[in-house]
Amino acid sequence: MKNSPYAETYARSISDKAGFWHEQAQRIAWHRAPKTALTPQSDGTATWFPDGELNMSYLCLDWHVQQGRGQQTALIYDSPVTGQVLHYSYAELLEEVGVMAGVFQQNGLQAGDTVIIYMPMIPQAVMAMLACARLGAIHSVVFGGFAPHELAIRINDAKPKMVVSASYGIEVSTKIDYKPLLDAALKEAAHQPERVFIWQRQGAPAVLQAGRDYDLALAMRNAQPAAAVVVPSDHPLYILYTSGTTGKPKGIVRDTGGYAVALHYSMEAVYNMRPGEVFWAASDVGWVVGHSYIVYAPLLFGCTTLLYEGKPVKTPDAAAFWRVIEQHQVKVLFTAPTAIRAIKKEDPAGELLHKHDLSSLRCLYLAGERCDPNTLEWSAEKLQRPVVDHWWQTESGWPMVANPMGIEALTVKPGSASVPVPGYEIQILSEEGRPLIAGQEGLVAVKLPLPPGCLPTLWQDAERFRESYLSTFPGYYMTGDGGFMDEENYVYIMGRVDDVINVSGHRLSTGEMEGLLAEHPLVAESAVIGIADALRGQVPIALVVVKDGGEVDPVALEIELIALIREKIGAVAVFKAALLVKRLPKTRSGKILRKTMRMIADGLHYTVPSTIDDPAILTEIHDALAARKIGQAFLPHHIVS
Ligand code: COA
Ligand code: AMP
Repeated sequence: MKNSPYAETYARSISDKAGFWHEQAQRIAWHRAPKTALTPQSDGTATWFPDGELNMSYLCLDWHVQQGRGQQTALIYDSPVTGQVLHYSYAELLEEVGVMAGVFQQNGLQAGDTVIIYMPMIPQAVMAMLACARLGAIHSVVFGGFAPHELAIRINDAKPKMVVSASYGIEVSTKIDYKPLLDAALKEAAHQPERVFIWQRQGAPAVLQAGRDYDLALAMRNAQPAAAVVVPSDHPLYILYTSGTTGKPKGIVRDTGGYAVALHYSMEAVYNMRPGEVFWAASDVGWVVGHSYIVYAPLLFGCTTLLYEGKPVKTPDAAAFWRVIEQHQVKVLFTAPTAIRAIKKEDPAGELLHKHDLSSLRCLYLAGERCDPNTLEWSAEKLQRPVVDHWWQTESGWPMVANPMGIEALTVKPGSASVPVPGYEIQILSEEGRPLIAGQEGLVAVKLPLPPGCLPTLWQDAERFRESYLSTFPGYYMTGDGGFMDEENYVYIMGRVDDVINVSGHRLSTGEMEGLLAEHPLVAESAVIGIADALRGQVPIALVVVKDGGEVDPVALEIELIALIREKIGAVAVFKAALLVKRLPKTRSGKILRKTMRMIADGLHYTVPSTIDDPAILTEIHDALAARKIGQAFLPHHIVS
């Protein structure tokens, strides 16, 4: 790799951060081009392009129309659940976004105000994001699969002036009414928005509350388009809440200028795209993949983006993805390994895949959760195309480790997401903060300053930002993942070192689930762990200790606890087991040994921690799990003292 195009680019991105990114910044159309690349902050972070001014919606829409891309398709909406396929050209999308922004502006929305967007995968969700960006208003999209309680938490934290939602979403063939969910969230929330705009989808319209709720389509009929409002580079574009270790999600803030430059760079360096080509991120606008690679990056780069309201299977079958690729001439597909596992489960031989002409497809990108080598190899063999596992997180906003296909296609090593992306100085640290050598597993950190596009802070909580990410080892951003690097700087991500789990590529907090279970009157304490799942990567299970006294029906209690998590977090948590145990294994200082329980549940060999209070409890845990056929590979005599 020495002296390779990647090695040279990477070395320069680290040795001359300012020069490297200043050069990249020239490639977007600023209203006021920055003269300074970055201003270092005292905590080691940096503000990128501090004197630049721009507008994200202008960059994604107006600029392309001005450059002659007005008639090119900007957005394809493909919805197998409604049987619709719609195309919006750049000119049409600009028109829609301008008018929607006009509605918001005429209703008092200004730069710096916040807006919650709670919508299914319909074009109006993308338009609402771009309309907020157009006014310099800060959107916070909440994934439609989250329950009212989760939405209420985010409403209370973001304090939106407006909420934008829709009458319903469709999960395969089930209609999910969003408006009652939103109403329930607003009932629970202490903060109330001034206005709620509802996109009424075809069919039974949602009931609107006079004086607060407005029909968005109706309002758009009478509105004038709003012009793009120019904002400083460090102006927040959005807040995206993600799970941390506590019940309170973290409000990741994204700046505008650094993000625009980083996304533009990634479309070429990582995804090897060219303007005019079709890019499909099969995710949801509620996740970071949706923000960055359904909405902002493809449009910034002049590509056609695809918004898919469907599933990899069941809408109608395991050929859904291949049909979309063929029909829309998709060049790059980006999805989660879970989606591929779901397809593989239904069509192991890839017979449905071979019925479609996939000649347009150049490459498949996978991220969002660990990609098991089996899934990577199956996709590469069936597609006969490069498959790139790449690693990043909500906080970074764009890939941190990847095979940089636009710079150089490197050798694939299954199990590794490949090499650090230019700009990211990845370092593996020991528990004491000492840099580790190749092959040694430790904490995955990024040397500060982070490149453009990464989070500058948490929404109105700079202290939590420092405490969560920067305070462990000064000079480093802690990713929360564990892993190692080999001699060729390939990074292997081994999983989270905190209480975050990944269910179908959806990031959830076990700490939050434990907090909710504790609300049940019979629960004394619980431990929620993420156990290996062949389809979803991980699923949560709870080990529950009940309060002393009284008879408890374990089956009835389990049903109630499952319903509690479903009601409070949502069905996406896929929480389906709450096992009663007499005690939880703890250290002598009272810390619950979650990792040890996870290893038992996954049938892995483990060492009994020397700090354990009572090793006999592990046998009880094993028995409880085995009774439910969890962790059967494990045998008690594998315990090593
Ligand atoms: N709104 C409301 N409910 C939702 C939802 C949404 N946006 N998304 C999921 N749900 C519900 C589902 O209906 C399901 O409910 P149920 O328990 O009543 O059946 C539950 O949440 C679990 O959903 P899901 O994990 O999607 O399970 P599934 O069996 O319907 O589908 C997969 C399985 C693998 C097809 C699906 O998880 C998938 O497509 N995964 C890829 C995920 C992905 O792209 N992640 C992006 C991160 S980059
Ligand atoms: P999210 O913030 O929801 O994107 O989740 C980010 C987390 O998902 C990371 O911190 C990792 O734990 C995990 N993750 C994402 N991509 C990968 C990958 N390619 N390999 C392993 N883990 C991944």
